[in-house]
Amino acid sequence: MIISGKAKLAGVMGWPVGHSRSPRLHGFWLERYGIDGAYVPLAVPPERAAEAIRALPALGFRGCNVTVPHKEAAAAAVDHLDETAKRAGAVNTIVVRADGSLEGRNTDGFGFLENLKAGAPGWMAGAGPAVVLGAGGAARAVVASLIDDGAPEVWLLNRTRARAEALAADIGDGVRVFDWVSRETLLADAALLVNTTTQGMHGQPPLDLSLKALAPAAVVTDIVYTPLITPLLAAAQARGNRVVDGLGMLLHQARPGFAAWFGVEPEVTEELRRFVLGV
Ligand code: ATR
Repeated sequence: MIISGKAKLAGVMGWPVGHSRSPRLHGFWLERYGIDGAYVPLAVPPERAAEAIRALPALGFRGCNVTVPHKEAAAAAVDHLDETAKRAGAVNTIVVRADGSLEGRNTDGFGFLENLKAGAPGWMAGAGPAVVLGAGGAARAVVASLIDDGAPEVWLLNRTRARAEALAADIGDGVRVFDWVSRETLLADAALLVNTTTQGMHGQPPLDLSLKALAPAAVVTDIVYTPLITPLLAAAQARGNRVVDGLGMLLHQARPGFAAWFGVEPEVTEELRRFVLGV
């Protein structure tokens, strides 16, 4: 990779950041589109996040992605928040505007929906209620995007019910909270099942969930993508349900940032998927 003195700069800020696949993802696009630019990992400890974000314009950065644990701090540090970031209370994409001010966006929900639409053609949020498991930061973006895209209801369940209640109160109409124990019976009437918990990730036990009651037409998706086919997705596939893996959410959420920083609308392709996975 050759970059010139005029290279456009962006990156991903996190702590730790070494596991992030975003440099690989954006690096692929930069090369593919022949752009003189660089996308670098920015390892910034929590106590320096605000300072590092405020320094982006001075360093000549076009912006950056923000990952764990800085997404909420970024929402507080920027000058402007778009609607998605306000709703999520978190920022994953920062754009330095022409006047040097910082705009915070949240493209996680966009990435989630685009991935579902690409992976399950014909699926629409309006098809029926969505069961969402988990109430962490990722769940917030997922729930808001489903409501905004026309889901009649989101049924939210979390091991710790209070966190689900807090999320539902923030999002407002359309979100109903149920006890964790009701997760299997609710599946009979769901058009979509989403896992946003960490269960099923490499090193974690599988999600404790029988799909026996799941409607045959329901689509199942997991935001975990290591492994690509989680035990949940494998079980859904075995029953004949359509499944969508979580890698595409990462790829699609990256599109708006790349377009804003580097001036090209990038495409998510099978070749990109394989490259980001490293296979
Ligand atoms: P984020 O990083 O997205 O903010 P997180 O705080 O790491 O998320 O939350 C991970 C999610 O996985 C939470 O919904 C968590 O449930 P709790 O709020 O009850 O902690 C869920 N989770 C983690 N371990 C779990 C388990 N063994 N069974 C069910 N859910 C679990």
